[in-house]
Amino acid sequence: MDTDPKFIEAAKTVLANNDRGQWTIPAHGLYPHQWLWDSCFIAIGLRHYNPQRAATELKSLFRGQWRNGMLPHIVINPNARHWADESFWKSQDADGAPAGQPTSGMTQPPMVAIAALAVAQKLPQAEAQVFLKSLYPKILAYHNWIYQERVPSNAGLAVLIHPWETGLDNSPGWQKLIKKFSPLWVTTFLSLGLSKLVERFRRDTKEVPSSQRLTYEEAVKLLALSFYARRRHYDSKKIIRQSRFTVESLIFNCILIAANRALGQIAQIISEDIPAGLSLGFGQTVSGLESLWDVQDMQYHPRAYKSQKLLGASITTFLPLYAGSISRERAAQLVSLLKDSKQYWPDFPVPSVSIASSDFDEDRYWKGPAWINMNWLIVQGLLNYGYDKEARDLYSRSRAMVGKSGFHEYFSAFSGEGYGSNDFSWSAALFLDLALDGRLSGGSESAAEPMVNEQTNNT
Ligand code: GLC
Repeated sequence: MDTDPKFIEAAKTVLANNDRGQWTIPAHGLYPHQWLWDSCFIAIGLRHYNPQRAATELKSLFRGQWRNGMLPHIVINPNARHWADESFWKSQDADGAPAGQPTSGMTQPPMVAIAALAVAQKLPQAEAQVFLKSLYPKILAYHNWIYQERVPSNAGLAVLIHPWETGLDNSPGWQKLIKKFSPLWVTTFLSLGLSKLVERFRRDTKEVPSSQRLTYEEAVKLLALSFYARRRHYDSKKIIRQSRFTVESLIFNCILIAANRALGQIAQIISEDIPAGLSLGFGQTVSGLESLWDVQDMQYHPRAYKSQKLLGASITTFLPLYAGSISRERAAQLVSLLKDSKQYWPDFPVPSVSIASSDFDEDRYWKGPAWINMNWLIVQGLLNYGYDKEARDLYSRSRAMVGKSGFHEYFSAFSGEGYGSNDFSWSAALFLDLALDGRLSGGSESAAEPMVNEQTNNT
């Protein structure tokens, strides 16, 4: 347990400054709305000292829930001046968007059941029951939407329609796929070399150096893909049928497996049953994940849905540890890859892309820098499989990183230098959660009990 009060207070101050009453912005400047997985990570940190406020953080996400159950990745703050506002998303033109609350039209990794369970553990018992009872039907509707609209086959894997849905906007895994998505106007636009013009309107590259953000071509492609979805009124089934960009995302499906388990636990606590059809789907996702393993390089990969070709691996290769559903043997293979100092274990791990890869770019967003949310997910994954020593090591290096540079959005994996926004909410919140986790202190507060049972998982 980290007891340095100065450091703990500094993290709380970041969250307090980003607090907007019922919800929290990811950071000043670049991110003035409420983001889905950001708020889940924020609640996981907040619960340690204000579980009621953490509960409110999660409840406020459901202001944006669509009638079909979708939780959008952005709940828009109409008072903020930002390019991704109401007029960009036009959610009101789509069927089923909530009346009077503009939102985006796509989702993000489904951390919400996990965060709700974590928050409930810190609430007084009676309050926890009320909280979980009020959220359960809404989270159930969300998971139901995922299985109805995004899991198109018995292969059991959720399909995403935009890189924003993965949470790792420009991870190199799907760059090849996105290259194929080239409507005429995009090709013309790119060939005219209008980059200077676009750069003038980009706000992100005014806030932070452009080398740390998406390239111009990536930015244009992401915008084009979201217009594509908007024109189809965010109709998932139609988009999955028609679009060239459809991905069985590794991170989304790993988090989905963990979230399905959390939802099952919530159901148990409030004496409900997950509907049988949905439980069946949950099981299929667990088996589906195994089809993303590549026997050649002994790693998990995302996969292009239509061609069924595995895509390039990145940091998400470690997320099956977080899913907790893989065998001990595969977990051991992943841990040895993680600890390879020539790939994923420089001084300030974990780089979002292997440092040995030609795609690695030290300061560019999801193409190289280390992120606290990824480290948090991997720490939980290591603990799941009993790799306590490695988990503690990763925590102490993450602590060194924020100690050196503050609660930045992302960091150089070589020097720990901070990049992107400073005072980034999830960096503060997840640092707090790690710092207050007795399993990481090396002490005896709660000797890590591996979640994974040797007998049942040694497949
Ligand atoms: C960026 C990140 C995404 C995050 C959002 C708000 O788009 O890639 O994961 O949710 O910013 O912080």
